[in-house]
Amino acid sequence: MDVKNRDRYEDIALEYRKKLDQSDPSVRGMTSNQSRWPLPSEIISGNTESDYTYTMGFIDYIDQFHRDITTCPLGRNNVPFQIDYGINGFLQRDEALKLYEMAYYAAFRGHNILELGTNEGLSSFLMATALKNHSNPEWRKVHIDTVDISPEWSASAQKTMRDRELSDYVNFHVGDATEFLDQRIAEGSQYGVAFIDHWHGYDTTFEAASRLADVLVPGGFALFHDFSDPNNFVPDHPYAVYQGVCDTILKDDRYQFFGLFGSIALFRVRPH
Ligand SMILES: C[S@@+](CC[C@H](N)C(=O)[O-])C[C@H]1O[C@@H](n2cnc3c(N)ncnc32)[C@H](O)[C@@H]1O
Repeated sequence: MDVKNRDRYEDIALEYRKKLDQSDPSVRGMTSNQSRWPLPSEIISGNTESDYTYTMGFIDYIDQFHRDITTCPLGRNNVPFQIDYGINGFLQRDEALKLYEMAYYAAFRGHNILELGTNEGLSSFLMATALKNHSNPEWRKVHIDTVDISPEWSASAQKTMRDRELSDYVNFHVGDATEFLDQRIAEGSQYGVAFIDHWHGYDTTFEAASRLADVLVPGGFALFHDFSDPNNFVPDHPYAVYQGVCDTILKDDRYQFFGLFGSIALFRVRPH
């Protein structure tokens, strides 16, 4: 299959958008974000709606840390719109706001978080901070399971968490994300949120996306980073997150689309 075939994915996207626009609540998640399903042609021309708005009914911002993301320094790695918390990584404000909100919500429901792709720990830092800020000794303590294929990146992220006194909230794993998922499924692990941010190729995205419903609780959320990155449609570029999601999640009636935030596509596994 030619995963860079734009026409094929434009057709799939138009069909899905039609389904969403018919406003069947079983397909479109109830959300404040009214962003439409992005078409490949819109992604390529940079014409997508992806500003942060809350999903789970928190008014405005959850707490001061969440609000401060809207004014945090930018310019990490010399990219003008990447947030800068002193940790290398590639996240925009709208993405950081959504990750923090989703992690906070997972903690509120007492569910652990799964992350594929740790790197130097920027996204782990944001989500672990939400867990810490939510924590209350009387509530069940939740944690992040994060996996990276590189022992070096994992070690770097572990140092970041130690330096910021967040180690209690993160369990680090080294290995391949698909194998890790299979292991978790076999053990019966369940998560409230999954952040998919490892290798952005077609096969790895497909493998993760087709397994997520087996590790997410009913009502759990899946976030796919770089879903709306135009590189997904550049012929010789390895990215194909959009295509991997279209060929799995979109065909699976267990999922509802909950909007686009920065480059992140958010889906929910239907609550029972
Ligand atoms: C984009 S970075 C993750 C960024 C991180 N989530 C953040 O926001 O700070 C992708 C990471 O995925 C890891 N990776 C690549 N292929 C992988 C695989 N098959 N399984 C697990 N991790 C993988 C890389 O080593 C890299 O550190």
